[in-house]
Amino acid sequence: MKLPNLNDARVRTKNEIEQIYLDQQYDSNTFKGQKYFLKTYGCQMNVHDSEEIAARLESLGFESIDTIEGADLVIMNTCAIRENAHDKLFGFLGRCKHEKEKNNKDLIIAICGCMAQEESVCNEIMTKHKYVDLVFGTHNIHELQDLILEKNNIQTISVYSKEGEVYENIPYKRDSKIKAWVNIQYGCDKFCTYCIVPYTRGKQRSRKSCEIIKEVKRLIEDGYLEVTLLGQNVNAYGKDLNDISFAQLLEEVAKTGIPRVRFVTSHPWDFSDEMIETIAKYENIMPYIHLPLQAGSSSILKLMGRRYTKEEYIELFNKIKKTIPNVSITTDIIVGFPNETDEDFKETLEVVNECKYDSAFTFIYSPREGTPAAKMEDSIDMKTKEERLQQLNKLVNKYSLEANKKYVGKTVKVLIEGLSDKDKTKTFGYTDTMKLVNVVGANNMIGQIVDVVITDAKSFSLDGEIK
Ligand code: 5AD
Ligand code: SF4
Repeated sequence: MKLPNLNDARVRTKNEIEQIYLDQQYDSNTFKGQKYFLKTYGCQMNVHDSEEIAARLESLGFESIDTIEGADLVIMNTCAIRENAHDKLFGFLGRCKHEKEKNNKDLIIAICGCMAQEESVCNEIMTKHKYVDLVFGTHNIHELQDLILEKNNIQTISVYSKEGEVYENIPYKRDSKIKAWVNIQYGCDKFCTYCIVPYTRGKQRSRKSCEIIKEVKRLIEDGYLEVTLLGQNVNAYGKDLNDISFAQLLEEVAKTGIPRVRFVTSHPWDFSDEMIETIAKYENIMPYIHLPLQAGSSSILKLMGRRYTKEEYIELFNKIKKTIPNVSITTDIIVGFPNETDEDFKETLEVVNECKYDSAFTFIYSPREGTPAAKMEDSIDMKTKEERLQQLNKLVNKYSLEANKKYVGKTVKVLIEGLSDKDKTKTFGYTDTMKLVNVVGANNMIGQIVDVVITDAKSFSLDGEIK
């Protein structure tokens, strides 16, 4: 895929970039009293990038606000994984344009994230959306303060087509004081044929293990109880460096003593026995694994470039279940990949019947420009795809409820994170196995891991009370 190459001339020297990381150089009075509205779509990687964006804005004096109205700067952090992202972005821009024309002609409108890396999106913004002030790519977040300080009335597009090196000491304004994301790797080299991520996030780059451990230790000092190691494909961690394997990294992180360690996302291809044994061995590595299946038919898996067969996936699944006590496993499934037959789809249902996932994220295949699958002919109509999705969801929800019902009457450890959105007399938190629990009687226990008796189960959550 050809990506925006609009201003590679902006590439700065290493020294300049190192300067950018010294946040002290920014004057937090520059935009004092001005407000930013930051909207985030997509995966955990985007959520964590938004924590960096927020920190950079606040280093200039901006304060956050949760509406477009009243903001001086709006930023949309976009996701490109499916086509509907396009409608979301341009719907959002419509609202921003209205606000700029009607109420605040000085409103700065900015777009970043995976869609910003798409050439067609940049072209559309440059030709049809002149009111957008700034577009910056996934590899350009470190420039944010400078881009805003240098802003004039000309639309700025700052998107590197190629990933840079891995930087350390990135500032974050973390959403939680209890659990934290920790990047261990950026980008992805797997090039599944349907997926745009390797193009928008670049090739795999792992962070040095010593830097990751340093960050985890700092988080412990700051009182964090849980870290989630973040990457598109964490199992392949370190393969691009002369560093330790993911299993060894997990072990090092567990040894820091942080009460809870999680990781997302795993690809079945790199899931080693060493990893399974490490997860089983350490109590503070949570028994929860997100193991994307994508499809149950080996021929579709081959077309997807997934590098495993149905049988290999099930073998791995069973090994994980057998070795890690009480493990919960969730998955991602795509229906309606080009030319997926009824037989192929039935095989997906068969795998779901066999694996009985704790839960699953299900999607209709969405062609992404520039990926190999987008060029494949497809004879399956949308109605069939929608019916398959409904059938799959019904089955997935049945197993989610069954899995959740097994918890009723049991006592489980829950990390209480805050008051429930719907009912402020309750709190919410997650079990080791990543089940969401609404808890009665824990309002003064936020930020603690407590024993909770499960009283009821629904498909997507549990109810419980403090023991
Ligand atoms: N169409 C539909 N779903 C997709 N995913 C990734 N690319 C596509 C696409 N083109 C799904 C995969 C992946 C999850 C994050 O999004 O299931 O695991
Ligand atoms: Fe996309 Fe495949 Fe990489 Fe996951 S492993 S980010 S699905 S290319």
